[in-house]
Amino acid sequence: MGPTAGALDFPLSVTTQASVGVTVADRQVPKWHELKPLLRPKPIDINPTKRRLAAALTISDLRSVARRRTPRSVFDYTDGAAGGEISLKRARDLFNELEFQPSILRDVAEVDMSTTMLGQPSAMPFAFAPTGFTRLMNHEGETAVVRVAERRGIPYALSTMGTTSIEDVAAAAPKARKWFQLYVWKDRSAAQDLMMRAKEAGFEALILTVDVPVAGPRLRDTRNGFSIPPALTAKTVFGAAMHPAWWINLLTTSPLTFATLSDWRGTIGEMLDKLFDPSMTIADLEWLRSFWDGPLVIKGIQSVADARRVVDAGAEALVVSNHGGRQLDRAPIPLRLLPDVLDAVGDRAEVWLDTGVMSGADIVAATALGARATLVGRAYLYGLMAGGERGVERAVEILSRDIRRTMQLLGVRTIDELNASHVKLP
Ligand SMILES: Cc1cc2nc3c(=O)[nH]c(=O)nc-3n(C[C@H](O)[C@H](O)[C@H](O)COP(=O)(O)O)c2cc1C
Repeated sequence: MGPTAGALDFPLSVTTQASVGVTVADRQVPKWHELKPLLRPKPIDINPTKRRLAAALTISDLRSVARRRTPRSVFDYTDGAAGGEISLKRARDLFNELEFQPSILRDVAEVDMSTTMLGQPSAMPFAFAPTGFTRLMNHEGETAVVRVAERRGIPYALSTMGTTSIEDVAAAAPKARKWFQLYVWKDRSAAQDLMMRAKEAGFEALILTVDVPVAGPRLRDTRNGFSIPPALTAKTVFGAAMHPAWWINLLTTSPLTFATLSDWRGTIGEMLDKLFDPSMTIADLEWLRSFWDGPLVIKGIQSVADARRVVDAGAEALVVSNHGGRQLDRAPIPLRLLPDVLDAVGDRAEVWLDTGVMSGADIVAATALGARATLVGRAYLYGLMAGGERGVERAVEILSRDIRRTMQLLGVRTIDELNASHVKLP
């Protein structure tokens, strides 16, 4: 079309509108009595942490706050995964790509999110995954997390690499359901000692993590020169200047020691490689059983054959997990593997899942596909970094609202009503 024809189009269409009688609205100056009811100033919270947390509507929002509030090396240690971080990306992608299948016209006025894990109640179908070095992320650390678990009625798992002692965690939240996550070290007597202490302190189940014969390649940590305890290098001094509150909190609260080991200096990967026993086999579960008579959960199952082996060896539950993508890169995607594992052992053991959970809808999807529990790791750690105990509370609030709403939109009222027909995997 030439420029002349194009220029003609516009005035012609205006004429057409005018000819069908479009009227121009009458205008007036707004009057105060009309404006007043529209003005609803929100009270401004003077506490900046509370303000930031209230503005975070999703776990990704909390992640953004966490990133601004913590030194780069600490954020990267938490946020990062192994190698090219493909395992983590694929796990998150699958959650995003699945399709929910809702049913309509069901009475979903009342929703019950409660369930059981290992035969005991949990207010929601998820628990806090074991994570190491938690007091690095925020000085309130494990104590903050276990307190939120107690208030919200969900279980908490303390890591062997925790930075608060087994006894102090127990004292901080005596009524919380607590599990102890064990790494077996070359020094076997250390593991025996930990199991005894956990039992004494009222920890109800043992989670044995089996996907760390050696540490995964955490390239972000190596690039950042991240070490335990944090060393004052030129880079970290710069980080300190950017995040003074984090450093002041670290230096003015009790020194960063470990729940289970004393005096270490080096990168986390070096620490894991020095301590952990890569020669451990399934036969060692019998040795473990002689010290732990409570429920045993095996975390880090990545094949149907291994699921069968650990259930044959007496595990009460297993976690289909690739450690949040922090070990083997390009590992199986837990959500994809879940249905096959359930087919193989679901009638003999509880099957749990973790890796990649960033929303309550992810938890609902895993539950619908048959996971008895979903462990969340980074989701609560982002909250912790963003605002200590309040931040963890906010993370749980975000997840629980999302679980409830997703269940309602799917047309289900209870966890038992959720089933595989509600989710289509790509
Ligand atoms: C910072 C961090 C530290 C972790 N430390 C441990 C640990 O000490 N023991 C363990 O069994 N798993 C550990 N994990 C893995 C978690 O238990 C869990 O498998 C993983 O976080 C789940 O993935 P998600 O973070 O995407 O939820 C850690 C994960 C993160 C992010």
